[in-house]
Amino acid sequence: MAKIKVKFVCTECGTESPKWMGKCPGCGAWNTMLEEAETVVKAPVGRGELTRAKEKAKSIIDIESGREPRVPTGLNELNRVLGGGLVPGSLLLVGGDPGIGKSTLLLQTSNALASQGLKVLYVSGEESVRQTKLRADRLGALSDKLFVLCETNLDLIEQAITDVEPDFLVIDSIQTVYRPDVASAPGSVAQVRECTAHFMRISKVNGVATVLVGHVTKEGAIAGPRLLEHMVDCVLYFEGERHHSYRLLRAVKNRFGSTNEIGIFDMTEGGLREVTNPSELFLSERPLGVSGSTVVASMEGTRPVLVELQALVAPTHFPSPRRMSSGLDHQRISLVIAVLEKRMGMFMQNQDAYVNVAGGVKLDEPAADLAAAVSIASSFRDLPTKPYDVVFGEVGLTGEVRAVSRAETRVKEALKLGFKRVILPEMSMKGWQPPAGIQLIPVKTVADALRAALE
Ligand code: TYD
Ligand code: MG
Repeated sequence: MAKIKVKFVCTECGTESPKWMGKCPGCGAWNTMLEEAETVVKAPVGRGELTRAKEKAKSIIDIESGREPRVPTGLNELNRVLGGGLVPGSLLLVGGDPGIGKSTLLLQTSNALASQGLKVLYVSGEESVRQTKLRADRLGALSDKLFVLCETNLDLIEQAITDVEPDFLVIDSIQTVYRPDVASAPGSVAQVRECTAHFMRISKVNGVATVLVGHVTKEGAIAGPRLLEHMVDCVLYFEGERHHSYRLLRAVKNRFGSTNEIGIFDMTEGGLREVTNPSELFLSERPLGVSGSTVVASMEGTRPVLVELQALVAPTHFPSPRRMSSGLDHQRISLVIAVLEKRMGMFMQNQDAYVNVAGGVKLDEPAADLAAAVSIASSFRDLPTKPYDVVFGEVGLTGEVRAVSRAETRVKEALKLGFKRVILPEMSMKGWQPPAGIQLIPVKTVADALRAALE
């Protein structure tokens, strides 16, 4: 009898090893090496494989440039994240926690594309045809060009693709699909990798824009989409808090556009609705005239977004005070607190500090530093901030306020939403004309900013 060879594969990065290891030698993650039966797959298909026979290396001057053709999806927020629309023949991965709304997003997208006259095949391995139909009824996604298939066998899915000849294909989700000639279970690293390679070939050869849905799960035999990130053209994450209705779509990899843009949606009874004025949404629950709350003008890609940044500084009896932040980098909060302690004489060794960006938004640019400093100082001194102020600027280690990009765009957004004053770095004042109707307070140091904001 033939002996089945066994190998161990990391669920995070796909590194293989002949023996079990507690720590993955590839990515260093613990407890991610899972046992798998080794299988021989007939012809592994890679990107090179497709073109090798036809193409020779060319001088870069001879290669035609010209832009990738784009198909707008009908959802502007999705188009923005994709960099203008879907590229035919591209392979996308949409990841996100279970229940966040991936199937809803893709069914809506499928419907929007089908109403433009494109043929769409939606393959669901998780829900029955009836369940999908119920969802489609709810979303009003009923177009005669939208085909639904509930199948997990890759051969049968391929058969359906040949029959339908779709322009847009959705596989919901990649973890449920299996190739009968690969011995391991659906969702295992080998299956997910082989199936993805297969869909890559289908999308490139037939020019079908393909979306794979992947669950983000750390434990168990389900391969995290991390492994797939290398294989696809575009990786989108759909995120949000279960208890909030809005959802953010962000690109972490995009071969056809930037990865800075985010798309914002609101999950309603009738499906996902696009949020075109995110600042209004994020500021809708803001308390006025309290201490510890500041509005920051942040850039999400090319779009300015105003969000509320809250801080609470409260005495503690424990020797090492807590520093908690959500939506902001922990390191930057430590830095801002250190600057306030050293440069402003605010001693917080016996104070816990909590910083939170309202609405589950993540601010990953240093322009949020100054707003964090104002919020923390406001809570520490228990002085309310002014309700009609917007603050932005990077804080340096000597307590100086450093320039940030796109000051003009941020100021205009503040003006549009009816704010009266903007506290901003003096160094960001160059090269543009301040608009009328809003007072600008250029500052050089954190001390200047606190004086303007709190006194
Ligand atoms: P779903 O798209 O099934 O999530 P995923 O595919 O990421 O697992 O979304 C599930 C949640 O969305 C579920 O809690 C119900 C909610 N929902 C709405 O609020 N409105 C709707 O119109 C739809 C279709 C779903
Ligand atoms: Mg789903």
